[in-house]
Amino acid sequence: MKDQQPTGDPTRLPRHIAVVMDGNGRWAKDRRMPRTAGHRAGINAVRTLIETCGHRGIRALTLFAFSSENWRRPQQEVSTLLDLMLRTMRKEASRLHENNVRIRIIGDRDRLGATLCRQIERVEELTVDNTGLHLVVAVSYGGRWDMTQACRRLAARVEEGSLHADEIDEGMLDDALELSDLPGPDLLIRTGGECRLSNFLLWQLAYAELYFTDVLWPDFREPDLDRALVWFAGRERRFGGVDVALSTAESA
Ligand code: IPE
Ligand code: IPE
Ligand code: MG
Repeated sequence: MKDQQPTGDPTRLPRHIAVVMDGNGRWAKDRRMPRTAGHRAGINAVRTLIETCGHRGIRALTLFAFSSENWRRPQQEVSTLLDLMLRTMRKEASRLHENNVRIRIIGDRDRLGATLCRQIERVEELTVDNTGLHLVVAVSYGGRWDMTQACRRLAARVEEGSLHADEIDEGMLDDALELSDLPGPDLLIRTGGECRLSNFLLWQLAYAELYFTDVLWPDFREPDLDRALVWFAGRERRFGGVDVALSTAESA
């Protein structure tokens, strides 16, 4: 896949990639293994993706690790997933820090245990000044939860009298949402073959290019990312406007 590496024109690279890491359960089922084995295998794919994004010069990467709705899964799977997150953060934090990666976790922390919350705070604090890849992990996250907490924040300001309801505009809502300090994702990748958002970054993905692949998350490697980047480089992004070259040709 070397010839497909989109290293030629950095302006055609996404600045921010969001990933729905789906298909762990099916990967395990194909091998007659328990679903949790798929989640464990998925960690290797995460490690590779972070490294590759760093090498490709991607500025920000947001990974969907656990959704608001994933709490509905059997309790044993939920606790294995959260335990895996805790262990992975402990194990990988210093290596990521050495690689200048800045780590941030988004989502509803009220639902996470005290140990995991403490570990999250530690990792965020450790890497806060890093200037390399900005890695965001969405845990207990849902786009609807995000919008709801943003509305609550703004409503609290209206209530205390520091904001008028008619002053609220898109920029203000954007600022109250998670990821307000990053440009919205340019590219969404979803593995596992489903073509849906599953309540991921509903507001922030408004103009993202959506890339769906049948590859199951534990199998996702460098060439798979490169295929997505090549596909992205070929997209024409209009943001509701018109293609300048095309409209000039038409009027000539
Ligand atoms: C994604 O894989 C991981 C999480 C949602 C936490 P799944 O566990 O959803 O795997 P499938 O979709 O059942 O194969
Ligand atoms: C989306 O995958 C959530 C994550 C990858 C963390 P799901 O497997 O939960 O999504 P659905 O249920 O197929 O929509
Ligand atoms: Mg799934």
